[in-house]
Formats: sequence, structure tokens, C-alpha cells
Amino acid sequence: TREDIVKTLKESGAEILLNYVPVGSEKATKFYAQCALEARVAFINNMPVFIASNPEWAEKFKERNIPIIGDDIKSQLGATITHRVLTTIFKNRGVKLERTYQLNTGGNTDFLNMLERHRLISKKVSKTEAVQSVAGERLADEDIHVGPSDYVPWQKDNKVCFIRMEGRLFGDIPMNLELRLSVEDSPNSAGVVIDAIRCCKLALDRGQGGVLYSPSAYFMKHPPKQFTDAEAFNLTEEFIAGNKGYLLKMKCLIIAAGEGSRLSN
Ligand SMILES: NC(=O)c1ccc[n+]([C@@H]2O[C@H](COP(=O)([O-])OP(=O)(O)OC[C@H]3O[C@@H](n4cnc5c(N)ncnc54)[C@H](O)[C@@H]3O)[C@@H](O)[C@H]2O)c1
Repeated sequence: TREDIVKTLKESGAEILLNYVPVGSEKATKFYAQCALEARVAFINNMPVFIASNPEWAEKFKERNIPIIGDDIKSQLGATITHRVLTTIFKNRGVKLERTYQLNTGGNTDFLNMLERHRLISKKVSKTEAVQSVAGERLADEDIHVGPSDYVPWQKDNKVCFIRMEGRLFGDIPMNLELRLSVEDSPNSAGVVIDAIRCCKLALDRGQGGVLYSPSAYFMKHPPKQFTDAEAFNLTEEFIAGNKGYLLKMKCLIIAAGEGSRLSN
């Protein structure tokens, strides 16, 4: 029961609860998020049920001053970060991205669970938005397909990702790119979550609660606020250094007037 879990969390002295329940476990995720609130432990939501990026849940963590990082962890070097980096290159080099897909196959329980398509709704939003959010121009829904494609039992924990990107270069010249990525799936998010734990611990030590926006943007596929990976990296470095600038950068309008010497700095 919830009471048992809250009691166990309190008695164990746990400071942070990690949520790694199977994809599509909406009720279980909300149940554990509620347990974290009641036991007053920080929460890191590694899977794609939206808690940190749901304003109502985010508010609950803010009200109680409990840190939360979420949602849906990025792997260290996986399909999402690779697809985002390539999409950023298209944008930065002025290549118009017209169509793209990211197909993933694997043979572990995560892929088995994903055969149940209704479990996938938020996973698909999370993975698609991670790519859309760094595109120069948002692609029409029919021009972007990101998602798991199939469960191949003999692949076991080996996840294979196929990315195709079609674009236009200067002079309206068509080009395309194909990539195949092969990784061991399970350990691929472990190092990233360790960094998320470290950031949560910093917030706990500083008495800071609510959504940790910068670490969420760097470590998670579906944070409450998306940044490019370079921006999210810098903001997370500033968060770690305790530089409050990371808060200001999110909404900052500087109005300056005159010709004083200080303005030139
Ligand atoms: N590379 C990664 O590992 C990675 C990256 C991003 C997101 N995720 C997400 O992390 C989640 C876990 O992935 P996985 O590969 O470890 O899946 P998994 O199926 O191997 O493990 C899920 C675990 O949750 C347990 N579980 C199920 N219901 C539970 C409940 N109500 N309470 C407590 N435990 C429960 C299961 O017994 C199992 O041990 C998935 O949602 C996945 O999409 C994983």
C-alpha cells in the first residue's frame, strides 16, 4: 500500500526515489510520485509518463519544496541524442529538413511492452518532441516518424536504431542521410541517471525544491522546458556551480539605454 511504501522510504533514510517502471505505467508512476511527496524524498522520473512536465504535478513538488527531475531519461549515446545532434546540424548549416524517421528495434522487456501500442502514446510524444524541439522549423506530423518499430526477441538487450533524414541544400538540391546505431540498451541510461542523482542531491543540500529545469533539459527527453543540447549543457554546468544565472536565462529581458561606459561591458 501507499502507506507501506511511504513508511519504508522514511525509515530507510532514502533521499531520492527513481522511477523506472515499464513504459505506459501511468497509474504506477503517479502512485510513486505521490509516495515521494508524502515521504518528502526527491523524485527522478526516468520514463515517459509526464510528471515534471505536467504543471499540476510540478506545482505539488514546488509547494512542498521537494526537487524533481523529469521526464523520460536520455541515454548516454542513444537514438534521441544522435537524432537531435543531426537535426541541429541541419538547422545550423541551413539545410531544410523535409522528412525524417527514427525506427528502433530491440528484444528486451521494454520493447516487448511497447508491442502494446496504447502504452506508447506518451513515449511517442516524448521521443518525437525531443527531435521537433531542435528543428529549424517544426515538421508537419506526417513528415516525422519517431518510435519503436518492433520487438525482435533474438536481439535481446541490443537496441538498433535506423535514422533517415531528407533535406534540401543550397539551390534546392535534395540530399539524404541514413544512419544505423547499435547499443546495449539497459546500461545506456545508467550513467546519465547518476548525474541526475548528483544534481538532485545538490538541490537537496541547497534546500531547493520544485522542478530542476536545467538538469531536466539536459538529462531528459521530455523536460518541462526544452533547450538545445548545448544550451542545456551550459545551464546544467551553471546549476552545478550554483550560479543563479541559470534561473535568469529562462526569462530575461534586459532593457538598456544611454551611452554610459558600463553598458559596453
Ligand atoms: N536505456 C534505458 O534503459 C531507458 C531509457 C529511457 C527510458 N527508459 C524507460 O525506463 C523504464 C524501464 O525500462 P527497463 O528496460 O528497465 O524495463 P523493464 O521492463 O526491464 O523493467 C521494469 C521493472 O519495473 C518493475 N515494475 C513493474 N511494475 C511495477 C510497479 N507497479 N511497482 C514497482 N515495480 C514495478 C518490473 O518488475 C521490472 O523490474 C521504461 O519505461 C523505459 O521506457 C529506459
